[in-house]
Amino acid sequence: MTKKSTFSYKGSTALITGAAGGLGEVFAEQLAERGSNLVLVGRSADKLQVLAQRLEQQNKITATVLTADLASSAEVEQLVSNLKTKRIDVDLLINNAGFGVFQRFLETPLARQIEEIDVNVRAVVSLTHALAPAMVARNKGGVINLSSSAGFQPLAGAGVYAAAKSFVLLFSEALAQELAPTGVHVLAVCPGPVATGFFADKKPDLGRHQMDDPKAIVEEVLRAFDRGKRVLVPGKLSVRLKTFLPRLFPRALVVQFGESVVRKLNRV
Ligand SMILES: NC(=O)c1ccc[n+]([C@@H]2O[C@H](COP(=O)([O-])OP(=O)(O)OC[C@H]3O[C@@H](n4cnc5c(N)ncnc54)[C@H](OP(=O)(O)O)[C@@H]3O)[C@@H](O)[C@H]2O)c1
Repeated sequence: MTKKSTFSYKGSTALITGAAGGLGEVFAEQLAERGSNLVLVGRSADKLQVLAQRLEQQNKITATVLTADLASSAEVEQLVSNLKTKRIDVDLLINNAGFGVFQRFLETPLARQIEEIDVNVRAVVSLTHALAPAMVARNKGGVINLSSSAGFQPLAGAGVYAAAKSFVLLFSEALAQELAPTGVHVLAVCPGPVATGFFADKKPDLGRHQMDDPKAIVEEVLRAFDRGKRVLVPGKLSVRLKTFLPRLFPRALVVQFGESVVRKLNRV
């Protein structure tokens, strides 16, 4: 069910979490090219400042840096309060920040697993709840949530990550339906492996040719947002197939296949 978006980027304000690198940085670049002002959020203040200056020089936009560790609920609240103090109205929220622990559950400290839920899930829900009401009131806006192809099935060896991304997918689809009568459009994005820093602390048994290019992924995401799509599995056909197959096979087989995929990615 799609309703073409009437969102106009020029002069709007987009807040991107995790903008210091990877897909977040590419979102910032492509939105700046379309004339969006930016709020760049993340922990790496220096990288965000350098990016903000570069994008302001290259495009006629303003870019504001707000540092926040999204694993901390206090810092998420502070971020929302800073937006109010600075009178920044966010038109497009891109919940992009995230990370994945590719390690077996009982071998991973609980604190790291909770942090994974806090960044990938709690911050997404909190920021959406804080910023979407003003979009609804203006009858204009959007929320783009980064889920993952990992969100379509259980992944033994990355159980919390897959469950968190599944949450993001289902939450986004439900919210898209709730907000359908308004001018606010919600899109869940479910990429397969993309060549970013995401795999920096892993040893994926993947060549770069097996990963998607972040620039092409973000172009596809913004096209899908413009078309009013609610769920996008961007990139390679093989990724789309892998998200479709779990719907056809018995659950027990799907879980085993998921575990073998994580082993290949991480050699766990
Ligand atoms: N790359 C892939 O293969 C892939 C596939 C499917 C889905 N995804 C999803 O796409 C999104 C972007 O990932 P990416 O590939 O661009 O990975 P990335 O290169 O590792 O970038 C992740 C970003 O998240 C930010 N971040 C992590 N923890 C944070 C925290 N506690 N507080 C604030 N920001 C935090 C990081 O910024 P700071 O370090 O500055 O805080 C970084 O800019 C993630 O949600 C990821 O799960 C990625």
